[in-house]
Amino acid sequence: MTENLDLFSAESQGQKAQDAINAGVPGSVTSKVAALRAQLWQWAHEYYVLDAPTVPDGEYDRVYQQLEALEGAYPALVTPDSPTQRVIGAVLDGLTPVRHAVPMLSIQTETDNEATGAMAFDQRVRKELGLDASAAAIEYVAEPKFDGLAMNLRYENGRLVQATTRGDGEVGEDVTHNIRTIRQIPLSLPADRNVPPVVEVRGEVHMAKADLEKLNARQQAAGAKTFANPRNAAAGSVRQLDSSIAAQRPLSFFAYGLGEITPPEQGGPDFGTHYAMLQTLRSWGFPVAPQVALARGASELVAFHQRIGAERANLPYEIDGVVYKVNSLALQRRLGFKSREPRWAVAHKYPAQEMPTLMEAIDVQVGRTGKLTPVARLAPVQVGGVVVTNATLSNLFDIRKKGVRVGDQVIVRRAGDVIPEVVGRVPGERPVYVPNFRMPRTCPICASAVVREKGEANHRCTGGLFCGAQRKEAILHFAHRRAMDIEGLGDKLVDQLVDGQVVRVLPDLYRLGLSSLAALDRMAEKSAQNVLAALEKSKSTTLQRFLFGLGIRNVGESTARDLVKHFGKLDAIMDASVEELLQVKDVGPVVADSIHTFFAQPHNREVVEQLRACGVHWEEGEPVEKAPQILAGLTVVLTGTLPTLGRDVAKDMLEAAGAKVSGSVSKKTSYVVAGAEAGSKLAKAEELGVPVLDEAGMLALLRGEQPG
Ligand code: IVH
Repeated sequence: MTENLDLFSAESQGQKAQDAINAGVPGSVTSKVAALRAQLWQWAHEYYVLDAPTVPDGEYDRVYQQLEALEGAYPALVTPDSPTQRVIGAVLDGLTPVRHAVPMLSIQTETDNEATGAMAFDQRVRKELGLDASAAAIEYVAEPKFDGLAMNLRYENGRLVQATTRGDGEVGEDVTHNIRTIRQIPLSLPADRNVPPVVEVRGEVHMAKADLEKLNARQQAAGAKTFANPRNAAAGSVRQLDSSIAAQRPLSFFAYGLGEITPPEQGGPDFGTHYAMLQTLRSWGFPVAPQVALARGASELVAFHQRIGAERANLPYEIDGVVYKVNSLALQRRLGFKSREPRWAVAHKYPAQEMPTLMEAIDVQVGRTGKLTPVARLAPVQVGGVVVTNATLSNLFDIRKKGVRVGDQVIVRRAGDVIPEVVGRVPGERPVYVPNFRMPRTCPICASAVVREKGEANHRCTGGLFCGAQRKEAILHFAHRRAMDIEGLGDKLVDQLVDGQVVRVLPDLYRLGLSSLAALDRMAEKSAQNVLAALEKSKSTTLQRFLFGLGIRNVGESTARDLVKHFGKLDAIMDASVEELLQVKDVGPVVADSIHTFFAQPHNREVVEQLRACGVHWEEGEPVEKAPQILAGLTVVLTGTLPTLGRDVAKDMLEAAGAKVSGSVSKKTSYVVAGAEAGSKLAKAEELGVPVLDEAGMLALLRGEQPG
């Protein structure tokens, strides 16, 4: 363990309590801190484990801040299990190996079909126990087999002291700093429930499907790597050296067993059955999967396998099979182990996750950020227990890379992934010619232009505010604190407003009435009034906030500010040409193009007009001077291919600085800018003695330097 984690060792606990006394902390503060913690533990448990919050987030935050303030004032009161101490900023040099007190075993895997798999296991167990056919059915516990990472959580005197990975089963790695950040894992166990002095809880750290999807979207937006499945995402997060990274990863946990525990002879609990043990873990605050069930005999195991197989696609987390365990701990002891696997448990996997099928068509879907995703329409096929008829193809380049065309036999995979994907093509001749897939030029939802930015793999709809697919995101962005700052207009409300078709376009927000708002779910009249008041207040804004709120691609707050400074008035921005936009500080060709394309869409202009008609207003300013016309009076000819700038961009830049760009070289030409493969114009320039510049020379000229 490294130094900063040592702070939290059991010894330092006692020391801390002593310190608190020494520091003369008033007794009332100590008990207040304890009460606040107990309250926060309970609320966090309700929120993260039971999925049933009982207070609004704001209330939790308020109490949390109170605790933080008291701990700030009396640092001696800080304990490692305080809700404020989830992220302790540990950055390690490497992970420390830890020998398990009780080895972490693996389980034998049964791959037979559902009936024979469970029956073979039941028969083996009965035979080992010497039971004949007339003996009663054996009781089992059937559990999902979670697709994540096995974890051993060691609690001493009710406090989490160490979390270790499975490693090779004998020696794992200490990942306590990261595991502490998982909200579902208690940092301390309830004092009133006979928790033994030593207990190791074992289970699976994983990532819920929806959380993985969100994480991947975030990773993609940040240009970071995405994770193929929850197991990779969980493993990649848990083995980070810097706990602030794990803290941002939405990890979850399910308990399914024990490691070392104080034995009954020394006062530890005597559970009797595996099922009772799981119930106890649940009562100590650990998440136990709700699907875990008792099953009597092989037939009920088969039924469980079937039922979970059917539910599998709809489960919020990924599984790759089910696990059967003998329920009685006495029988488990009698059965014992064979090499490194228990005889009392077996994992029963689900069938293959990849299947071939016919790709009948490729449709295009529009996501909430405007991204166009090609979707393969497939002849229905069973993959991993569910019928798949659609699979994603990511983007145009993904299709090209995989070389799939409509009419092909393709392989579909439903691995750890949430959405089935087309992996590739089954090799073979195509009986008829089928053209390659092309992206539509207009959005299939709103008919706005579709664009793909230079260097980007994805195509996007430019409809923005107008596009039905992008509506929710557009509204949330508009309402954002740093945009129009409409307090109370959050995810849940926007979902209801858009799904109920109450708000179709942004201006509809300002047309909301008290009755339509108060009629929504979970919306009391008072909160409806608050939202209306916030909407009213937002009408008086600044042009910068408004412009940012429109959600124009590539226009963040600072670009909005620069645009306002430069143009002063909204109309001037809306009507600006690409050239004019390029004169704005820090606006390059990509941004200029985004702005121009946005305002070139009639529906976006319509939205702006309607917002103004609804009373949204700001103070307009005066435009600043145009860019200095340092090349006024010069005539420049462009020829050949420039190494980085496109010819159009170079032309815009020269014109913005006041130069005239001409197509032919004459004695009057001031400069010829020549790129690769320049032909007759270059020759002509040399003949006439016109100075010739390369791209760098042109850029120097634009900076007002002497081109060399
Ligand atoms: S019990 C002695 N139960 O599967 C049995 N394991 O080889 C110890 N796993 O990587 C494991 N879900 O993390 C058990 N409900 C479950 C499980 C489960 C997933 C994983 C476990 C380990 C592997 C077991």
